[in-house]
Amino acid sequence: MTPHFTTLTPVRKRCVIVLVLVLVPCVILNLLTPSDMREEAVLQNSIAELQAKLEHLHAKYISSQEEINLLSHQLLQLIESNHILPDLQLLINNGTSNVTNIKLPSIYNFLPHFLNDPNSLRPAFVQSKGRSGVSMVLGVPTVKREVQSYLMATLKNLLDRMNTAEIADTLIIVLVAETDIDYVTYVAKQIEVQFPNECEAGVIDVISPSLSYYPNLSKLRDTLGDDHQRVIWRSKQNLDFAFLMSYAQTKGTFYVQLEDDILAKKNFITTMKSFALQKIGTKENWFVLDFCQLGFIGKLFKCVELPWLIQFFLMFYNDKPVDWLLDHLISTKVCSLDMDHKHCKMAKAELWVHYKPSLFQHIGTHSSLKGKVQKLKDKQFGKITLFYAHENPEAIVETQIKPYKQYTLQKAYKGESFFWGLLPQPGDHLKFKFSHPIFIKKYLFRSGNPEHPSDRFYNTTVEVLAEVSPLLDRNSNDVTEDGYVIIGKFDVLGVAEGTIDRKLGKVSVLRLTIHSESENWAILSEIHIIEDQPS
Ligand SMILES: *[C@@H]1O[C@H](CO)[C@@H](O)[C@H](O)[C@H]1NC(C)=O
Ligand SMILES: *[C@@H]1O[C@H](CO)[C@@H](O)[C@H](O)[C@H]1NC(C)=O
Ligand SMILES: *[C@@H]1O[C@H](CO)[C@@H](O)[C@H](O)[C@H]1NC(C)=O
Ligand SMILES: *[C@@H]1O[C@H](CO)[C@@H](O)[C@H](O)[C@H]1NC(C)=O
Repeated sequence: MTPHFTTLTPVRKRCVIVLVLVLVPCVILNLLTPSDMREEAVLQNSIAELQAKLEHLHAKYISSQEEINLLSHQLLQLIESNHILPDLQLLINNGTSNVTNIKLPSIYNFLPHFLNDPNSLRPAFVQSKGRSGVSMVLGVPTVKREVQSYLMATLKNLLDRMNTAEIADTLIIVLVAETDIDYVTYVAKQIEVQFPNECEAGVIDVISPSLSYYPNLSKLRDTLGDDHQRVIWRSKQNLDFAFLMSYAQTKGTFYVQLEDDILAKKNFITTMKSFALQKIGTKENWFVLDFCQLGFIGKLFKCVELPWLIQFFLMFYNDKPVDWLLDHLISTKVCSLDMDHKHCKMAKAELWVHYKPSLFQHIGTHSSLKGKVQKLKDKQFGKITLFYAHENPEAIVETQIKPYKQYTLQKAYKGESFFWGLLPQPGDHLKFKFSHPIFIKKYLFRSGNPEHPSDRFYNTTVEVLAEVSPLLDRNSNDVTEDGYVIIGKFDVLGVAEGTIDRKLGKVSVLRLTIHSESENWAILSEIHIIEDQPS
């Protein structure tokens, strides 16, 4: 930051005083024994954090100055065109007089269609508790997919991989980049139902742009030799990212771009924040911290620097894909024309810092670009758990669903692997016949796994056959024709779990019954049946 102290606003002055108050004891600490080193590190971290917050405040100040400037511009124009009352004209003219101003270009020069509708920059949908001032803002853009959406699995994974303190310091913004408002509302509702506590606490915002935010996409120029569908896809992605970043920039200190089909490492928030604060502490001049080797996933920026990206994306949205634009922006900043590739790369590496090992991995195999299968995986991510093993009561297990390779139900039941079945059909069962009838305290079946989250059991019930037929109303919906009692079903996240009422008596068979056709294969990555032992 350049120290133009003469132009400090009251807000900045206050922050500088705070900074000095922190710095002075820090200098004193330098004279102390090594046992104070840890405290010093903590202090340095706080200074870096304060500095990041200060930059954020400064950006807010710039933005309000900008608004004032804009207003006075408009007033001047009104005065020049004699559209206001003479008294008011005199009042305003008195201070400003009639000096000529040059007019800077605005985003309307590049996207004139914004002028067609006053609502073009207003989100069509916002579900938010208005939370801001967090350290980490995660941007998750999502679009309607032909095959299967991984959004819920991604959100669940992100939240599972954060601890309470991390959640309290984070805002997740889901951009549903669709203009079909029914679909947007449906996704928002799904998020609200799946994550009621997080939504209530304001951890997840859901937004969508209005139809008039987008230019007529069929009129885009075909560039780079790409076919028209691809040009539309990548141009829209530029506009989507710009929209998401514009909404996000005032919400916190750091912004991380993610996607809707990823997995994260445990405590990724703390890792990213510490790395960023360490870079600020050592006064390195970085622009992006990169926590994943793929595309635009896991790129961290300071919120105050997002306008660089937003402006750039909006200017060149029709010319290049979004990850190339990021690369070009950085080249523009540091590479000269006579620099060779190697030196340019070295110069860029200072602004674009790679962190290893990667904190994010792709899960999707179906890219949102129709027909394009996305198989890119980040090799830096490491191994992920594909199943959970448990000791289960002795039983004979069987199913008519054909297993893929060695992924049999028998192995899954013993906790040696997961079960992977080919195309389950309505009426198919997975049967667990216990060697002797048992009381069951709890059961848990988890379908899908991180690499294949959509290989879940859909519309599948959990049913038990009691040793002695309990006194039940046979006509009730809870009993099947062949005498099984329906005790549960798989939820939308692909999990079935619950307890079994002791009144049902001992259970001799437990089975899963599939009710609908599935386009996917099905994985059982966790089977846990807990016997209620007589005490
Ligand atoms: C114009 O400004 C002068 C001094 O700057 C002030 O004395 C005067 O009252 C102002 N006139 C109006 C109409 O505001
Ligand atoms: C300033 O305003 C006066 C009166 O409105 C006008 O005569 C003069 O030409 C203007 N000067 C400039 C530089 O626009
Ligand atoms: C978009 O452009 C195409 C091709 O010029 C045209 O046929 C279509 O009507 C336009 N759509 C809108 C909504 O203006
Ligand atoms: C579940 O299966 C039943 C029976 O085939 C069918 O009527 C119902 O529509 C299915 N539900 C869903 C959500 O697919």
